[in-house]
Amino acid sequence: MRNAVIWLALLAWGTVSVDAQRDKHVVGINAEPEDGEQPRNSEHYVAQDLEDDMVDWDKQSVDQQSHADVTSNLTPGDEFTQDKHAQFTSEELAHQANELYEKALRFMERGKGHGEEGKRAAYRLIDEAHKLGHNDAKKLTAFAHLFGDRARWSIEEARKLLFELEEIGSPDAQLALGFMHATGIGFSQSNQAKALVYYMFSALGGNPLAQMAMGYRYHSGVGVPQNCETSLSYYQQVAKKVAESVKFSTGLAVQRIRLTDENEPTLQSTSSPINPDLLEYYRYLADKGDLSAQFGLGQIYLSGGRGVEQNFELARKYFSTAAEAGHGGAFALLGKMYLDGTSVTPQDNHTAMQFFIKSAEKGNPSGQAGLGIMYYQGRSVSKDYEKAYRYFTHAAEQGWVDGQLYLGEMLYKGFPTKSGIRRDFKGAVKQFQLAAQNGHVLAYYNLGQMHATGTGVTRSCNNAVELFKNVAERGRWSEKLMEAYNAYKNDHRDAAAMKYLFMGELGYEAAQTNVAYILDKGEADSLFPESRENILERAIVHWQRAANQEYPLARIKLGDYHYYGWGTKTDYKQAAQNYKLAADRHAAAQAMFNLGFMHEQGLGITKDLHLAKRFYDMAAEHSTDAIVPVTLALSKLALIFLVEQLNTNPVIAYAEKMIGPYWDIVAIAVLLIIPTLYFMQRHLGRRNEIE
Ligand SMILES: *[C@@H]1O[C@H](CO)[C@@H](O)[C@H](O)[C@H]1NC(C)=O
Repeated sequence: MRNAVIWLALLAWGTVSVDAQRDKHVVGINAEPEDGEQPRNSEHYVAQDLEDDMVDWDKQSVDQQSHADVTSNLTPGDEFTQDKHAQFTSEELAHQANELYEKALRFMERGKGHGEEGKRAAYRLIDEAHKLGHNDAKKLTAFAHLFGDRARWSIEEARKLLFELEEIGSPDAQLALGFMHATGIGFSQSNQAKALVYYMFSALGGNPLAQMAMGYRYHSGVGVPQNCETSLSYYQQVAKKVAESVKFSTGLAVQRIRLTDENEPTLQSTSSPINPDLLEYYRYLADKGDLSAQFGLGQIYLSGGRGVEQNFELARKYFSTAAEAGHGGAFALLGKMYLDGTSVTPQDNHTAMQFFIKSAEKGNPSGQAGLGIMYYQGRSVSKDYEKAYRYFTHAAEQGWVDGQLYLGEMLYKGFPTKSGIRRDFKGAVKQFQLAAQNGHVLAYYNLGQMHATGTGVTRSCNNAVELFKNVAERGRWSEKLMEAYNAYKNDHRDAAAMKYLFMGELGYEAAQTNVAYILDKGEADSLFPESRENILERAIVHWQRAANQEYPLARIKLGDYHYYGWGTKTDYKQAAQNYKLAADRHAAAQAMFNLGFMHEQGLGITKDLHLAKRFYDMAAEHSTDAIVPVTLALSKLALIFLVEQLNTNPVIAYAEKMIGPYWDIVAIAVLLIIPTLYFMQRHLGRRNEIE
C-alpha cells in the first residue's frame, strides 16, 4: 500500500506521455544492412564461367530493336506468359479474336496517359475477344476483376475464370490462385500449403512474379523453412529477366512510397513521383531556353517512371534543343537513342557515333562512354579493346555510371591476348559497386552473380539474394505499386489494399508496410468485412513481414501491437524484444523511449530505474522529437529516485513513525496545497490590482 498514490499518479502521467510519443513518427532513421552473414556450405557452387549468365549487351541491343516498335510483339506486360489459345473452331475465328485482342492492347498502351476513356474502350474489345474464346483476353478479364481495374469489381467472377484457365495449365492463373489462397481472398480461409503449390507450378511455368513469391518465401521463411539457396535460384531467374530488359536508363525508378512516410516530406526519396507543378515549371524553364531543364526533361521522358510515361518523341525534342545550344550530355543521350533504336530514332550506328564524338569533344563523360561502347562492340568502327578501355576508364574516373559498368565488364572478362587487359575480378567488383551506388540495375545484377559464385568476393548466398531481389523488384511490374498508390490517393482504398497485398506477397517491403497501414487504419472494410480484431490479426502479419525486412517503423509497430494486445494477446516480453531490436538495429528513438518506460515499470523486462534513465537519455540523443517526452519522463524518474532516497532517509523514517505509514498521502496533499495557495494568492493579487 505504501507509495500507492504516488505510483498511481505517476502511472497515469507515464501512460499519457508514452501515448503522446507513440503516435509520433520518429524521423531520420535509416535501415542499416545487417551483417553477421553466414555463408552456407550446404550446396557447393562451382565457380563456373559466368559468361552465359552475364547479360550479353551486344545481343541485347539487337533484341531491343524489336521491342522498340510498340505495335509489334505486344504483350500486356512482362509479368504475363503467353497462353495457349483455345481451339478455335475456325481459322477465321482465331484471326478475328487475335485482331480484337491486339487492338485492345494498343488501346491500353496509348490510353495509359489518357485516363479512363482508352481503358474502357480496350476492355470492351477484350470482352469481345474473350467471348470468341481468346484465352489471353480471358486472363486479362480475370485479373481486372481481381484487382478492381474495371468499374465492376468481382472476385467471384475472377475466381471462376481463373479456375477455367488453370485447367489448361496457365501459369498466370496459377499465380493468381496462389495469391488468393495465400490471403484467403475468394476462399473461406487462407491456405498456405495450397498457395505454395500454386506458386511453385506457376514459377516452373516461367511466371517471374511467382518466382519472386517463391524466392521471397524461402528468403524470409514464410510458410516454408528458410532456405537461402532455394531462394537464390528463384530470384536469379527473375533478375536475369529484368536485367535483359533494361534499356535507356540505369533501370526503372520504382515508386516505393510508404504511406507511413506520407506526412514526412523529408523522407521522400528520389523515386517518389514528380510533382506535376514541378514538371510544369521545368517545361516553362525549358521553353525559356534553360539548358539543364531541357536536358532534365529529356532524361525524364527517355526513361519514364516517377509517374511520367516514357515518351521518345519528347525526349528527342528536348535533347535536340539542348544539343543545338551545345549541351554535351544531350548529344550523348541522342547518340544512345540511335545506338539502341527507338520508335522515333531507328537504330543507326553511324549517327550514334557522330553524336558521341560531338559529346566527347565537349569533354562529356557520357559521350566518352558512348565512344567506348562503339569501339568495344565494333559499331561503325572496327573493334578496338584498348581504345574502349581508355574511354571507359576516362568516363568512370569522372564518376559516369556507364563507364563504371563497362569498365567492370572489361575487367571481368579480360582481353589479355588482344590488348593486354588482364582479368581482374576484384577490380570488376569495385567498378560494379561504384555503378551500383549510382543505382545501375545491371551493376546490381553483375554483383549478384559474383556473390552467388564467389568470384572476386567471398561467396555469400545472402548477399546474392539481396542483390537479385533488388533487381527483381525493379521489373516493369513494379508499376503496380504506383497504381496502388494512385488508387489510394483517389480514395479507392480497397483496390489499393488489394494491389499492395499482391505486391507484398511478392516480397516488396513498401507494399507490406502499406497493407499493414491500411488495415491498421481500418480503411479496407469492404475487402475485409471482418471484426476489428481479425483485421488487426491480418495487419500484424504484414507488420511482421516488413519488420523482418528491416523497416524500423514496422518493428516499432510490432512492439506496439504486442504491448497493447492488438491482433495478438498482450505480451510485454515480445513488445520489449521488438523495441530492443528497433533500438539496436535502427537506433529508433521511439523504441528507446518505450524501452525506458518498460524498464521503469518493469513490464516484460527487469525493473531497473538506472537502465530506464539510460534509455531515456539515448532517445533524446537520437531524436530531437524525443526531447520533450524524455524531459517529462526524466523529471518523473528524478521524483521516483527522490522517493526511493526518502525511503531510506532517517528523517523520513522518523516522520513515518510520527505520521504513520500514509505519510506519502499527506506529502502529496501538502504538495498540492502549496501550488493551490500560491495560485490563489496570485489570482487574488491580480484582482486587487485591477480593483
Ligand atoms: C550496328 O552494329 C552492330 C554491331 O556491329 C550490327 O550488328 C548492326 O547490324 C549495326 N546496325 C546497322 C543498322 O547496321
